[in-house]
Amino acid sequence: MSEKRTAPTVVLGVTGCIAAYKACELARECMRRGMRVKVVMTENATRFVGATTFRALTREPVAVGMWDEAAAPVQHVSLAEEADVLVIAPATANVIAKLACGRADDLLTTTALATEATLVLAPAMNVHMWRDEATQANLEALRARGAIVVPPESGELACGEVGEGRLAEVGDIADAVEAEARRSRDLEGSRIVVTAGPTLEPIDAVRHIGNRSSGKTGFRIAEEAARRGAAVTLVTGPTHLPDPFGVVTVRVTTALEMHAAVIEAAEDVHAVIATAAVSDFRPAAPQTGKVKKDAFPSAIALERNPDILAELGEAKGRRVLVGFAAETADVVAHAREKLAAKHLDLVVANDVSEPGLGFGADSNRVTLVTADGAEELPVMGKRALARVLLDRISPLLLPRG
Ligand code: C5P
Repeated sequence: MSEKRTAPTVVLGVTGCIAAYKACELARECMRRGMRVKVVMTENATRFVGATTFRALTREPVAVGMWDEAAAPVQHVSLAEEADVLVIAPATANVIAKLACGRADDLLTTTALATEATLVLAPAMNVHMWRDEATQANLEALRARGAIVVPPESGELACGEVGEGRLAEVGDIADAVEAEARRSRDLEGSRIVVTAGPTLEPIDAVRHIGNRSSGKTGFRIAEEAARRGAAVTLVTGPTHLPDPFGVVTVRVTTALEMHAAVIEAAEDVHAVIATAAVSDFRPAAPQTGKVKKDAFPSAIALERNPDILAELGEAKGRRVLVGFAAETADVVAHAREKLAAKHLDLVVANDVSEPGLGFGADSNRVTLVTADGAEELPVMGKRALARVLLDRISPLLLPRG
């Protein structure tokens, strides 16, 4: 599937914890599964296992200090760029806390901050440190930013206590790393258009018809697709979000502008993911200046906007088309209708009447509706939703050319 010829690169961060010796086995297991492993150790980790051990196991240089004479001058950036996955195993409470607040005071945390690769964390620590609210809050913050956590197991701990905190099984950590390595490239060779945000339809020079879409979902999808190797064009209405990294972002205001930009960008793509909340209507005769309050009409004549996604569905070809359906009742039934009417492959249906979810929020609860059935997903962050959605779309995209 993937055109990339080289083995995926796993940067393995090892921190100072008694379980550091298990990272040797993890390095070997990742290599056995066809991955290239480069180890970064914290100074504390070298008190438990020597760099020479990892050097011998991986046959790659092992990085420890920011200022090692032999190291590349900006090693944190080169490692960050090389990484398809950054796994930290074992991850101490300290490194988790540093990552959660974005500190970068050694090579490992600097690499973590600089990389676009997915972070996989396998915590290991004393049971009380694990259960501490600070640790749990830090992990939650990292999860919300896209980190994958392979939770520790219960059992006898090095300190003699019994409880949660023992590093997960090496095989389980390797499974998570392998899955992320695969994800990091599964969209290579594909071209994807994503639409996002609202469209604003001018009434006059200062007023418009619009809606409450923040654009977050579409931006997350575009960013995640690019991270996984797709060439992505994001066509977005007005939002406060910065351009996602590695994505060609086209900013428009009205539905007509979005229509023109999407039709052009979607001509030769493998998929279109339409998250935009396109305004269905526009004022028929927008005024160029500001209409004074007293002269404002009591009714504004409206015209239908083109349905961009439906138009793409009319000439679908082999493109995978994904629509979103924000409804307040009978969500799945409406999604099914939309699937058929617009010739879509998948509809992401969500109930926008649920408080705290959907429009503008960071989380969503959606159902993925296809011709084969409906998959109800739990409440999840929009980044996690982007990941799951692309997992479902990726197999539909083959073969690519
Ligand atoms: O029919 P409805 O507007 O509910 O369909 C929503 C889906 O269609 C979304 O994916 C939205 O981005 C897309 N759409 C579009 N152009 C429109 C209206 C909706 O692409 N004018």
